[in-house]
Amino acid sequence: MKSIAVFASGTGSNFQAILDAIASGQLQAHLALLVSDKPSCKAVERAVANGIEVFTFNAKDYDGKESYENAILHELQKRQVDCVVLAGYMRIVGSVLLSHFHQRIINLHPSLLPSFPGAHGIEDAYKYGVKVFGITIHYVDEGVDTGSIIDQFAFHIEEGETVEEVECRIHALEHQYYPATIHRVLNGE
Ligand code: GRF
Repeated sequence: MKSIAVFASGTGSNFQAILDAIASGQLQAHLALLVSDKPSCKAVERAVANGIEVFTFNAKDYDGKESYENAILHELQKRQVDCVVLAGYMRIVGSVLLSHFHQRIINLHPSLLPSFPGAHGIEDAYKYGVKVFGITIHYVDEGVDTGSIIDQFAFHIEEGETVEEVECRIHALEHQYYPATIHRVLNGE
């Protein structure tokens, strides 16, 4: 069975969906580690509550990205992690992790890439007035949300739907499809 590490900086609802999918057998993987740059975020709480090992760091305690990524890499290698899964990790992955995990880091983005990359994908798409929203699961490269696309899922907005309602539907789509897609990637399907 492949080992994964999830990276998260926030609420961790997708991390929870991954935990649930592993528990139910929908996602066959060993969740070796949660990595977080926000030691007091909800994702860390969820990991602790579920007995998952955690590695947290404060970027300002390190001498730059290379330095904290080397610390992360050490933790990943110690646990023989096969694949890194980003789930709301609010940092750009740098060369240390990219070179060691080439095409083995995947990310979830809440828009239909290449439209609306960056930290505010849902709001940006809503403000633009798009009628079809969705999510993208992609490999991570050195750009911001530019890596090759693994899969996308979409829905049509209803008349009068608010941005909050759209956001809820996006998150539901993420929870439904991210774990299943991770399973397919890990098993080379
Ligand atoms: C998700 O919307 C994901 O698409 C984006 O960050 C958000 C993380 O949400 N990359 P959560 O922390 O999993 O609830």
